[in-house]
Amino acid sequence: MCGIAGVASFHSIGDRLYEGVHHLEYRGYDSCGVAFLNHDHIEVRKDIGTVDEVDGKESIRQLNSFVGIAHTRWATHGKVTKENAHPHLSCRGDFAVVHNGIIANYKALREGLLKAGHRFSSETDTEIIAHLIEQRYTELGDIEAAWVSALTALEGSYALAMISTNDPQRIYCARHEGPLIIGVGSESNYVGSDFNAFIDYTKNCVILEDGEYGIVSKDSFSVKSLRSGEVLDKAITVVPWDPELSRKGGYPHYMLKEIHEQPLAVRNALSIDADEITALADMIAGARRVHLLGVGTTYYVALMGQYLLATLADMDVPAMSSDEFRHLDRSDAHSLVVAISQSGETYDTVMSLRHAKERGAKTAAIVNVVGSSIARMVDRVVLQGSGPEVCVVSTKAALVQMILLTRLALELGARRGTLSATRRRECEEALAALPGEIETLVNEKSGLIRAAAYRHAQVHNWLFLGRGVYYPVALESALKMKEVTYVHAEGMPGGFLKHGTLSLVDDKLYTLVFVPPPSAGELHAMTMSSVEEVKARGGFVFGFTFDASEDIFDESLVLSQTSELTAPFLPLICAQLLAYFTATALKRNVDKPRSLAKSVTVA
Ligand code: AGP
Repeated sequence: MCGIAGVASFHSIGDRLYEGVHHLEYRGYDSCGVAFLNHDHIEVRKDIGTVDEVDGKESIRQLNSFVGIAHTRWATHGKVTKENAHPHLSCRGDFAVVHNGIIANYKALREGLLKAGHRFSSETDTEIIAHLIEQRYTELGDIEAAWVSALTALEGSYALAMISTNDPQRIYCARHEGPLIIGVGSESNYVGSDFNAFIDYTKNCVILEDGEYGIVSKDSFSVKSLRSGEVLDKAITVVPWDPELSRKGGYPHYMLKEIHEQPLAVRNALSIDADEITALADMIAGARRVHLLGVGTTYYVALMGQYLLATLADMDVPAMSSDEFRHLDRSDAHSLVVAISQSGETYDTVMSLRHAKERGAKTAAIVNVVGSSIARMVDRVVLQGSGPEVCVVSTKAALVQMILLTRLALELGARRGTLSATRRRECEEALAALPGEIETLVNEKSGLIRAAAYRHAQVHNWLFLGRGVYYPVALESALKMKEVTYVHAEGMPGGFLKHGTLSLVDDKLYTLVFVPPPSAGELHAMTMSSVEEVKARGGFVFGFTFDASEDIFDESLVLSQTSELTAPFLPLICAQLLAYFTATALKRNVDKPRSLAKSVTVA
């Protein structure tokens, strides 16, 4: 989940390397560095800290070179130190590599290299790659042969870029279970772990697949098969995103900008061609067994999908967390696995899909990033079109995924006769009204939520309760709170509380309850009984409610009445804002919270 950028150009590359790696910082940000050709040697500038901090110390933007690679790190092997920061050099300093992924057999390779006389200066698995290439170059006398030979010896996952004094005009790159793409520009070519590495300069790119490597120079590039060495005829993909969408646009943080972008993102989701939804519905209808798959936020989105399909289409479609999927997967040729992923690169989800495919299952996905690994590996993809989500914490992408699952459930409900034509139309009207309702909500409630967040910023423990479709809302809201504020928040079904956790309730544990509208009948009544249980034990209860007359809460945020179908999305957005403002009150690094990366591409 680190970020890789590389540039080979007719022009000096300092700014481009800096910008490339800066735009990738959401993938990891504990240290960063660059390696570039400086006349007859490779110069490395790196340190711990953000790209701007390292640039301040090491003057990345001012470097004068025409070929270089850069990296921003999310530590896996080895502590966050300058030595462990990438790039890593070989013993003689004639090869420099940057790497994303984990080399599973690095200990064995390191032993062999130590015996051959190599000396290491970091604790990373990556450093062995630079030494291994150097060793193979000594043996084979040819840089491409050495590169291929080294890659063949690696086990695990990698996206790699390498420069060498032995071929100073070119960048070598490769991937295995980690994304890597080549940007095709004019008078410059690029490598990157995603489009953001070069989107300011070109929208044209070539996506490497596992088992392929690329050689990139300022005016050409080639992609070859690692197994056969054959040159591959790769298609150019055009990135549909406007680079301007990746800017903060006056907001203090991307998270707030992306929360505010939700009306537009939902409108875009509602305008995705109905054929896309019908085709996915066809696959679901044709399968004997269907699973929804995601991890972290997208697991909660999948769980939301499970509730929607059960309640609207009377279907039993279990959601599974992709980090555990392989241990439970019993899919076969009659199964369908539908994955949900913003990045389209999440290791757990990729591996689960691979597992299901090996068992003969069909696969589909809802994905935001065009050309991502998941988008390319499944039998059918629905591209959610939410635009770039830069904040590490997912907001608009997750909401849009829920909206698309709602559309899917409506389609299946209509087919299966569980929804009348009139009811379906009412639901579609409710969805169409949602963007406007979100706009009003964000405009009218942000101030109140901000005040509440600052009032309660010192609360150390939260319980977030919801029942039915509000249960995944509670789970996702608690994850938002944890990941961006570092405050403990536990999402739980209201009914589960009395089976043990009530013991924690006292005046210090705060409870946030996601209360459905009174029109939800039993679900509303059952949720209110959970509120009573907490109140009876002296707990503080904050209610997100649609009913101004409910006066049991210690504090409440009253939401405007809406349809039962879209009601759960409104408190979800309120919880995003609560997490955001709590994080600002606590002075957290909102867009890049600790120990989290945008694409989690490691096991
Ligand atoms: C979301 O806020 C988190 N960053 C995380 O749980 C994320 O949803 C998860 O890693 C899955 O990512 P994906 O949607 O890119 O597959």
